[in-house]
Amino acid sequence: MRIDIVTLFPEVALAPLSDSIIQRARAAGRVEVRAHQLRDWSAAKHRRVDDAPCGGGPGMVLQPEPLFAAVAALRGPNTRVLLMTPQGKPFKQALARELAAETHLLILCGHYEGVDQRVIEALVDLEISIGDYVLTNGALAAAVVCDAIIRLLPGVLGDERSPEDESFSDPAMLEAPAYTRPLKFQGLAVPEVLISGHHGKIAEWKRQQALARTRTNRPDLLP
Ligand code: ADE
Repeated sequence: MRIDIVTLFPEVALAPLSDSIIQRARAAGRVEVRAHQLRDWSAAKHRRVDDAPCGGGPGMVLQPEPLFAAVAALRGPNTRVLLMTPQGKPFKQALARELAAETHLLILCGHYEGVDQRVIEALVDLEISIGDYVLTNGALAAAVVCDAIIRLLPGVLGDERSPEDESFSDPAMLEAPAYTRPLKFQGLAVPEVLISGHHGKIAEWKRQQALARTRTNRPDLLP
């Protein structure tokens, strides 16, 4: 897979993807990630890329010219063009799985008051939001989306089973609590059942705990 990110802050987009599991995936060639400076496609004075909103209002809007030029330069025959924006479709594990099957993602990052609507209508296949809050720019959001996608690529996680066991593999359930050694710590014990060796009982305990946790933390997920 190849991922191109177009942003005013390439270092911000790349920093979270330059360590640990994701960096190893990049080094092993399982994914090629590049971040590009949007201003490199500006033909304006002082490499300007934004202007005031038509009709008035606060903030600045990213202009169409540099974004059209960036997409023309980076798009290939099998590219899916994404735009990071709080107005987008909510990013969920199912969408991460869908995007992990693509061969080339081109991620445009919004900034200021947004992006000229002609960019969205002419170039963008999917607008994505990572949550109901507003970040200062889309570069951090792009890194979040890339991390969630890259860890799903074949061979990236050491234990191939782990993506199936975790929260949101079943979209309506969080993961059960986890424990490790020591079995007693400051008077707090690991639940008996987990050291019983009884796989059926352990599975049933995990199911109950996952359900209780989902009820408490994410009742919206339950039918
Ligand atoms: N840019 C600013 N806030 C965002 C969000 N919540 N999701 C995606 N992109 C954003």
